[in-house]
Amino acid sequence: MPATIVVGTQWGDEGKGKFTDLVAKEMSLVVRYQGGHNAGHTIVVDGERFALQLVPSGVLYDHITPVIGNGVVVDPRVLIAEMEMLIDKGVDCGRLLLSGNAHLIFPYHQTLDALHERSLGDAKLGTTKRGIGPAYADKAMRIGLRVQDMLDPKIFRQKLEGALGHANAMITSVYGGEPVDFDEIANAYLDEYLPRLRPHIGDAIGAVHEALDAEQHVLLEGAQATFLDVDYGTYPFVTSSNPTAGGAGTGAGIGPRDISRVIGVTKAYLTRVGFGPFPTELFDDVGDHLVDVGKEFGTNTGRRRRTGWFDAVMGRYATRVNSLSELALTKLDILDDLDTLKVCVAYEHEGKRLENMPYHQSVLHNVTPVYEELPGWKTDISEITERADLPPEASAYIAFLEQQVGVPINLVGVGPGRRQFLHFAA
Ligand code: GDP
Ligand code: IMO
Ligand code: MG
Repeated sequence: MPATIVVGTQWGDEGKGKFTDLVAKEMSLVVRYQGGHNAGHTIVVDGERFALQLVPSGVLYDHITPVIGNGVVVDPRVLIAEMEMLIDKGVDCGRLLLSGNAHLIFPYHQTLDALHERSLGDAKLGTTKRGIGPAYADKAMRIGLRVQDMLDPKIFRQKLEGALGHANAMITSVYGGEPVDFDEIANAYLDEYLPRLRPHIGDAIGAVHEALDAEQHVLLEGAQATFLDVDYGTYPFVTSSNPTAGGAGTGAGIGPRDISRVIGVTKAYLTRVGFGPFPTELFDDVGDHLVDVGKEFGTNTGRRRRTGWFDAVMGRYATRVNSLSELALTKLDILDDLDTLKVCVAYEHEGKRLENMPYHQSVLHNVTPVYEELPGWKTDISEITERADLPPEASAYIAFLEQQVGVPINLVGVGPGRRQFLHFAA
């Protein structure tokens, strides 16, 4: 049974957690394939809110094996704290499988992240300072430590010495910071974190393939999103991994022939947290309204998200680079009070109309959005459970986005709760 991918199509926080949880009901395995605790995925079940950073969103179902894949960068301290939080709320984490091939985040990665951001001054990216970039940089430099290294303390210490030597040279010589202590890290990782995580460390790639061979459903859960992708996003204002569908294969250990469905999660408007270009950004009352009603503050950093109108040029690009088979549209209810809705259908640049994403970033920084206006519905839709009961203006908005992006919208979110969604499949 080929796998399904859930991928963000915008700048993150589209509602991937909620929709992964929804789709997960029919799955056996849910695999997080990239990113780290820069992610914040929220699921609301019977009024109770779960904010997940590393544990896959399928964890709330007893029948699912949640897997942290090889493409993820893991801060063990955060993972353990998240497992404790879940256990306290009555969620069983016993089935969690942590890939031995996943890379570890260390405190020096966080130090470097913060120091590098500081050194950039006004050109900073607005990272989450979780050490994500430096951890992936070490992976690419081949000086990173993997989860499996903790299982061999001698190797772990040897590798840590090399990696820390490099990190401390950077911290002190380049940024003038304080060096990080070797023993403190080695003791915490080997004596404190390893005993807690050991039962969960294993062969995630094997587990994924056993499930696929047994015709079980496998769901690959992305963190971040298409426009934060290090290859396809608004570089350098991106994260350091590949959240797009291609990254799902490499981050979970499967090839394209084992994937049949790619669900793009898309907010009914746009948000972005951190710096970088944002053609449809709103700086007016409507923007503030979307922040207030949409509670647009970072799930775990608390930062205010920037807001804007839906951008169909971005939607078409996300469709291309992810091979989207369908969309899940979220937070439609947040538009309930607006008189008029705008959708960016193209960009204008130096008198030319651009239907597709310009490859040159300098162009993107200088485009003017071309909008089409649609009437709002001015009705509370959060309790609606059937597609047929939606106000006609809401159905027209959905149909317009579908037509603009060129992919069917199969699920529509009308509230944060597990039951607050509509089936839209034909
Ligand atoms: P993720 O990072 O993509 O998983 O998204 P986040 O969890 O960071 O942010 C999405 C927020 O929107 C969360 O607070 C969700 O509970 C909430 N949410 C998801 N879908 C809907 C929806 O359809 N309507 C409303 N009102 N909230 C939603
Ligand atoms: P989820 O999975 C929104 C943003 C940061 C910053 C940039 C780089 O919840 O959608 P990083 O710490 O990754 O080096 O920061 O990426 N960013 C996110 N924005 N949602 C996320 O995750 C994000 N993860 C990273 O704000 O602009
Ligand atoms: Mg989030």
